[in-house]
Amino acid sequence: MSFIADRDNELHAENVALSRVAEKFGTPSFVYSRAALTAAFEDYDKAFGDHPHLICYAAKANSNLAILNVLAQLGSGFDIVSGGELKRVLAAGGDPRKIVFSGVGKSEAELRDGLAADILCFNVESESELTRLQRIAADMGRTARVSLRVNPDVDARTHPYISTGLRQNKFGVGFADALSLYRRAHQASNLEVRGIDCHIGSQLTELAPLAEAARKVVELLDQLTDEGISIEHVDFGGGLGIRYGEESPPSADEFVRMLVDTVGQRSLSIQIEPGRSIVGNAGILLTRVEYLKHGEEKNFVVVDAAMNDLMRPALYQAHHTIRPVRTSAATSATYDVVGPICETGDFLGQARTLAVQEGDLLAVMSAGAYAMSMSSNYNTRSRAAELIIDADAMHLVRKRESVEALYADETLLP
Ligand code: LLP
Repeated sequence: MSFIADRDNELHAENVALSRVAEKFGTPSFVYSRAALTAAFEDYDKAFGDHPHLICYAAKANSNLAILNVLAQLGSGFDIVSGGELKRVLAAGGDPRKIVFSGVGKSEAELRDGLAADILCFNVESESELTRLQRIAADMGRTARVSLRVNPDVDARTHPYISTGLRQNKFGVGFADALSLYRRAHQASNLEVRGIDCHIGSQLTELAPLAEAARKVVELLDQLTDEGISIEHVDFGGGLGIRYGEESPPSADEFVRMLVDTVGQRSLSIQIEPGRSIVGNAGILLTRVEYLKHGEEKNFVVVDAAMNDLMRPALYQAHHTIRPVRTSAATSATYDVVGPICETGDFLGQARTLAVQEGDLLAVMSAGAYAMSMSSNYNTRSRAAELIIDADAMHLVRKRESVEALYADETLLP
């Protein structure tokens, strides 16, 4: 079921027409559906059935406090990658004992903050990090629960910038080194080996690479068990893709069933770290057409959203479906949909057939993940407002930034 769909010739989020959102809160705005978010989380949760599991939503996909809070209320854990995300998750009511901390560059302060919050597990990515974590934990008189993020050297067959499980990537530790590092961790006085972790990339549209990585991780896990290093949980990372256009990614159910089958009879809790597949299709970017511009070679729809709001097309050549909020009487033409920013890379879509007029509203679909969380203030543009629609109610969950706030921390020379 789609919670962002047409009703009476107009795109709605749940029961709210998007034109009403634009009237009340202006554009550009991100609009999310609470029901869509909930359904995506529950798809994963139900797929596990009775199997012990923890879904750690990857906060980086969309870290708005209200989104984090909705998920925390559903029982979600969180995958974080910075001290900032730790603070956000705690501020949103997330349970520290359901937080895993990933990332190759955790600073001293971040490790301390994680230990002070008593998070569930650090996903350690290098020997140096293991050494640093042991030292800090000893200094604080704490024990750090750890997993090693292993790099299974699997080609995730996705965009190279978001492929993370190959030997040449900066992530995780190689299989060749994993065993000796586990032995070290096992012997360290202030570390407690809890799990094993991997993550091979994002927007994965095939099950095979995920299955190959899972098999390799479970093989290593058996070796560890044979050595007397007991593992309580296996974290298979995130990465399941969504439909932006013509993709047909595996369902949450297929993904989870594959994981449960791979783990088999071993008594282990399964963790996953999905981001995009929870929030991506639960949100859109609502934007208004400022100008239609008919050039010598191309036609342009100039909208009020730009690459600072959604940088995925510019950065990854990503495709987002763009559609009018209401069907229009205008004749259709082929357009590049561009923003006001002074770069040719500032486009949201290219060569799109659209029937639009100046002043019309457009929806950039599948913009719940890695859109607002990657936005910037380039060109001194205020970041967009964010709203959550819950049945008939519109909730402003982040107001549009004021321009003054953008330079409030800057000072003139004396
Ligand atoms: N766990 C770890 C350790 C990760 O690095 C990531 C994403 C996830 C989980 C969540 O992956 P997901 O389920 O969302 O695929 N900005 C890019 C995506 C970057 C993903 C980075 N890591 C984009 O817009 O496509």
